[in-house]
Amino acid sequence: MHLQLREEKVFKDPVHNYVHVQDEIIWALINTPEFQRLRRIRQLGTSYLTFHGAEHSRFSHSLGVYEITRRIISQFERADYADWPQEERLVALCAALLHDLGHGPFSHSIEQAFQMHHEDWTCKIVLGNTEVGAVLRRLGEDFPAKVAAVIRKDYEHPIVVSLVSSPLDADRMDYLLRDAYFTGVNYGTIDMDRILRMLRPFQGRIVVKESGMHAVEDYLMSRYQMYWQVYFHPVTRSSEIILRQIFRRAKELHAGGYRFAFLPDPLPGLFNRDLTVEEYLLLDEALVQTAFMQWRKEPDGLLSDLCTRFLDRKLYKYVEVEVLDLEMIDDIRSAFEAAGLHPEYDLEIDFPTDLPYDVFRPDGEFQDKQILLLDRQEHLREISEVSDIVRSISGLHRGKYHLYYPDNKLASVIHRLPANIAELFEQGQ
Ligand code: NI
Repeated sequence: MHLQLREEKVFKDPVHNYVHVQDEIIWALINTPEFQRLRRIRQLGTSYLTFHGAEHSRFSHSLGVYEITRRIISQFERADYADWPQEERLVALCAALLHDLGHGPFSHSIEQAFQMHHEDWTCKIVLGNTEVGAVLRRLGEDFPAKVAAVIRKDYEHPIVVSLVSSPLDADRMDYLLRDAYFTGVNYGTIDMDRILRMLRPFQGRIVVKESGMHAVEDYLMSRYQMYWQVYFHPVTRSSEIILRQIFRRAKELHAGGYRFAFLPDPLPGLFNRDLTVEEYLLLDEALVQTAFMQWRKEPDGLLSDLCTRFLDRKLYKYVEVEVLDLEMIDDIRSAFEAAGLHPEYDLEIDFPTDLPYDVFRPDGEFQDKQILLLDRQEHLREISEVSDIVRSISGLHRGKYHLYYPDNKLASVIHRLPANIAELFEQGQ
């Protein structure tokens, strides 16, 4: 059963101007509690502590990804490309809309602290006994499984996966534009309409017409700039480290039988890593921040200090080092310990590799990581073979190591540290 809405619904959107909803199923999905929960989860986690405008939600990003996918598909339909399987339209639109459904509050940090993956939760919510699951089943008992397969990237029609998840997909295009808009940076303002006009379905995947190469170069340059200017901003990383430490400390205390004055559901289940889907859906940023507010008053000094730091934005400072000398790190750890610091919490080493944001890496074996250009003779070429610009930024990592530490704690014991270590941390920013 598939019905068009009698009247198209529109959402006003600052990035795409309007988001158009024509199918009843999409409208019904947007109105489920599971999808509405995304309004209470920020798209960029703690970036708002660095860029105060970055308060946009996963709800707005998800609508944006849906809208870009809708525009691409309607263009394929208008051009009547034989390589686009028209019966896949709704699977693609639902997967685009729901692809981030399983994100938790401050996703990146919470996933690291509790070894979870949002993609698994997305699939559990889609397949489970939820309202989203019930809406999807209206299109057939196997329809939720199809949507989950697209999200897991193992759907039988790879072209659908390629639309929602590839180096030039609707997800990346939306977050690039949206994150640039809300952080207020000048990068990331790509000509999306031009890129969309250059896309075409070809032999089971989405490729770019050769004449669109410069628009794609521009897009990859924007990704590169956003990566360094926004996604890997050291202040944002500092706030993520504090968040992760809060979760780690709370989990540690809980495991040791500590009695919290405030521990609402589903936090005990989160700490024990035995959450049901229903419990998981209770997690949002409002709940987590309320817990932090209350934990400021906990007698555990470490937990209350970390929560205060996060809420009042008293973040860790950092020093940059070019190479990571493990012996030096060991020396710092022992010196911290001897001076009365807590090296497990008072020193964190960070390097920009574990980010979900890759600029672009056309690894040969992974076809789905390539961007293919199609010339007039219908030959395909990987963009980095053709473009000097793309080649020069592919897989580029010129990052430095950052050592994060609480500067006030360090200042109170700096006279007890060996001179070379004290000197290193005196350059902190
Ligand atoms: Ni996304």
